[in-house]
Amino acid sequence: MQAYRRCLGQRQQQQHLIPALRSLHPLSVYGIDHPRQESTLATKGIGHLMRKGTGGRSSVSGIIATVFGATGFLGRYVVQQLAKTGTQVLVPFRASEDSHRHLKLMGDLGQIVPMKYNPRDENSIKAVMAKANVVLNLIGREYETRNFSFEEVNHGMAEQLAMIAKEHGGIMRFIQVSCLGASSTSPSRMLRAKAAAEEAILRELPEATIMKPAVMIGTEDRILNRWAHFAKKWSFLPLIGDGSTKIQPVYVVDVAAAIVSALKDDGTSMGKVYELGGPEVFTMHQLAELMHETIREWPRYVKVPFPIARAIASPRELLLRKVPFPLPTPDMFNLDHINSLTVDTVVSEDALTFKDLGIVPHKLKGYPIEFLISYRKGGPSFGSTVSERVTGTEF
Ligand SMILES: NC(=O)c1ccc[n+]([C@@H]2O[C@H](COP(=O)([O-])OP(=O)(O)OC[C@H]3O[C@@H](n4cnc5c(N)ncnc54)[C@H](OP(=O)(O)O)[C@@H]3O)[C@@H](O)[C@H]2O)c1
Repeated sequence: MQAYRRCLGQRQQQQHLIPALRSLHPLSVYGIDHPRQESTLATKGIGHLMRKGTGGRSSVSGIIATVFGATGFLGRYVVQQLAKTGTQVLVPFRASEDSHRHLKLMGDLGQIVPMKYNPRDENSIKAVMAKANVVLNLIGREYETRNFSFEEVNHGMAEQLAMIAKEHGGIMRFIQVSCLGASSTSPSRMLRAKAAAEEAILRELPEATIMKPAVMIGTEDRILNRWAHFAKKWSFLPLIGDGSTKIQPVYVVDVAAAIVSALKDDGTSMGKVYELGGPEVFTMHQLAELMHETIREWPRYVKVPFPIARAIASPRELLLRKVPFPLPTPDMFNLDHINSLTVDTVVSEDALTFKDLGIVPHKLKGYPIEFLISYRKGGPSFGSTVSERVTGTEF
């Protein structure tokens, strides 16, 4: 009886406390009818956002992050690394339940929260951001569809997210994932749209962080997998231009680590732009050689000059909105990508990089490209694996 009375007393005490607490910290009323207000994005030097504690997947970091674009290639690595720090991750998704189910396994029960949303409905974006204190935007697409233009996906959506985060009032960090080479003068429309997004975000939220990764490599990548598949199927690989365009591919796990590292810091990464390239610069030809070496296929190239590559890729773009059915996704010949290959895309000399985030990016040769062994004739375990043949100096 005494225990019951004690319990009742505690409950009454709590009930008195709640209105008092509410007056001190008004509970979030952010929602569809919330009036527009000024940004309260934390200013520089806010201190560590992540609470100190035991750390680990079952801990509570204090961060609730809405990760737009979590269902993509980079998204899975970002969600995994966030979940590992005890962060609750809200995963907006627009497609089927299958698009996010691999992410659920990355966190403790209730830590990864998929939320259906409509990227064209402001209220639904507000709903997935309502409980968050961090927003990451990984949305992007390297080809246009009948429904979405480059500008809408890569610029319009990013700008809208920044505006909503500004109005939210409780978003402490906003990280935008752009692309290395994004510039208003780029020959690629997607990269011009990405540059416009960066500008719009920094205008709305000057304390946002922009990450500009180079082409990303990893198990689900869209360059080496595509090449390996093509080379196996057709016994040759088209090299656009003469294969001399320079790129600086980066391991996707390092990019995810850079994003998490920016969240963990004391606010120094706020308002900064980072260019995330791998430790080595490759020409397209050298990267193709590495791919062939790994899958153990004899390299045969067909050099496709830019005008011819454009001619092969153009019909899809011309017909995209003229035919009443969806056209296939561009694979090896994507007009915008071909245009982007007319210039080198490497990290600029004075840029902030992995080093400034305390990360040493992996060399590609070795573990980052070991997934390619699945393309080997005779099976993945046929012969030695790539990492077995990496010498100490190459590591
Ligand atoms: N992959 C690279 O090599 C590379 C290199 C540099 C920069 N980046 C940039 O890094 C970011 C992540 O790249 P990624 O390779 O992970 O991209 P991804 O695999 O193509 O995933 C893109 C994400 O954006 C979402 N998305 C695309 N179109 C959308 C739309 N119309 N409305 C709402 N959501 C949409 C996708 O959702 P659904 O699953 O619903 O389609 C997916 O979650 C992108 O911004 C990309 O531009 C990528």
